[in-house]
Amino acid sequence: MKIRHVSTAAASRGDAVYVLAPDGRADAGDALKKALQQAKATGDLKTSFRAVRLFHQPKGSAAKRLGVVGLGKVANINTERLRRVAAIAQGSAASRESASFSLLVPANAIRKAKPFAAGQAIAEGLVLGAYRYDAPRKEKPKKAHALQAQVAAVGLSSKDEAAFARGLTVGAKSAEGAVFARDLENQPANILTPTTMARAAKKLTGGRMTVKVLDEKAMQKLKMGALLGVSRGSVEPAKLIVFEYKTPGAKGNVCVVGKGLTFDSGGISIKPAGRMDEMRYDMCGAGAVMGLFHALKNGALGSYKPKRNIIGIIAAAENMPDADAQRPGDVVTAMDGHTIEVLNTDAEGRLVLADAISYAKKFYKPEKMCDLATLTGAVVVALGHEMSGIMGSDQKLIDALIDAGDVADEPLWQLPLWQCHKDQVKSKFADLANINSPAHGNGSTAGGAFLSYFAGDTPWAHLDIAGAAYGGLTKDYYKGGATGTAVRTLLHWIRTL
Ligand code: BES
Ligand code: MN
Ligand code: ZN
Repeated sequence: MKIRHVSTAAASRGDAVYVLAPDGRADAGDALKKALQQAKATGDLKTSFRAVRLFHQPKGSAAKRLGVVGLGKVANINTERLRRVAAIAQGSAASRESASFSLLVPANAIRKAKPFAAGQAIAEGLVLGAYRYDAPRKEKPKKAHALQAQVAAVGLSSKDEAAFARGLTVGAKSAEGAVFARDLENQPANILTPTTMARAAKKLTGGRMTVKVLDEKAMQKLKMGALLGVSRGSVEPAKLIVFEYKTPGAKGNVCVVGKGLTFDSGGISIKPAGRMDEMRYDMCGAGAVMGLFHALKNGALGSYKPKRNIIGIIAAAENMPDADAQRPGDVVTAMDGHTIEVLNTDAEGRLVLADAISYAKKFYKPEKMCDLATLTGAVVVALGHEMSGIMGSDQKLIDALIDAGDVADEPLWQLPLWQCHKDQVKSKFADLANINSPAHGNGSTAGGAFLSYFAGDTPWAHLDIAGAAYGGLTKDYYKGGATGTAVRTLLHWIRTL
């Protein structure tokens, strides 16, 4: 999707012109005044939220087709609604097989959101909405699907207009990061392996970004017994992917760690067959990290210079049953020396993250860090698909991430992480067990509690994104498959560092 910020006059012409219209007020300046009046006169105009109406060759208009997308009541307009109506306009143009279309955004449509935030949300809606997973097929579909948008604001002051335009640019780049994540996440596990993920990461090298990949030999040297234990049953070698995004003048490091299970069969504690294919998505934490660094590289922060170096670490592996796979009851030694009794080989995410977190601590001594993981099915039971769980050791950090999630419209809900939960993962046969007892019940906090031992006293937050990563309601800009969740949240958070 290419987005161009253009003048109102330029956007009012063309094959397909869409106007965002709040609450009975379809008004997009002089060029379309007559056309909109005519549309209204037909009695077919509708401006309730998500309503879309198309009018053909309205008299006195430079637009061949005039679309009106309803925003609903002005009081209810927010960034999420703008993101959605932008995606609806894109979808409507795409369904007509238009290659290109215009979007007019009247001042009264964005009054409630700030011009920058409105521009950002609209660009995100366009880019996310235009994304399609390009499935491998014998014959490729060749239909045009509205991948170029001319966007104009109507009736803004020149200062607000400039902010709106900056928002468009930043939004497009943030969403492109999320699309990059979604595209990796949607790949089947025989295509996206730890090796191919590392290759995709390496391609982001350049500018302020360096990307390093550790192979299993290097991990053995570092004594990453927890991560390597998970990977043992797979013929696909594990990779530890390390991004460094360094800004001149930045002080200290902030680490973002992602769970990158390109497939999670459960291992010897094998999962049931039903929907096991969805475990391709078990790398969505890593997807969020990849998307973040894609966005950073492409300037999604605009002119904002982060005050900290941003470090990304991905533990990429595949969890498979095999004659050489680790067994329930095996005891492994993690990089930081903790011994772990692997009571369930399906609780593998926390094992690979344990060593990735230790790596972050040892080599970067981060001021703070967070991890993202599709860690537990329990978080989907607790919170569903419309939000992620967050927990950790530092309330300020947790609050900052929750705020960023609110701005991005990717909500985070805090779960407790108490001493009683930490006590649940102590083991008789080792320092820690990788699960609590089923009798305890709390699956998600047990995962977080396990990780807390590795984060130690570094301020840390854990995002369990198993619900939000895929499988939610469609939102106009997500129509199935992976969502790329948390990329936009992380970008907002980084702006606060
Ligand atoms: N990748 C899964 C968690 C998951 C489940 C993500 C469903 C998305 C949808 C994780 O590795 C896992 O298997 N967790 C177990 C933990 C249990 C063995 C303590 C789970 O949630 O059942
Ligand atoms: Mn698992
Ligand atoms: Zn998993």
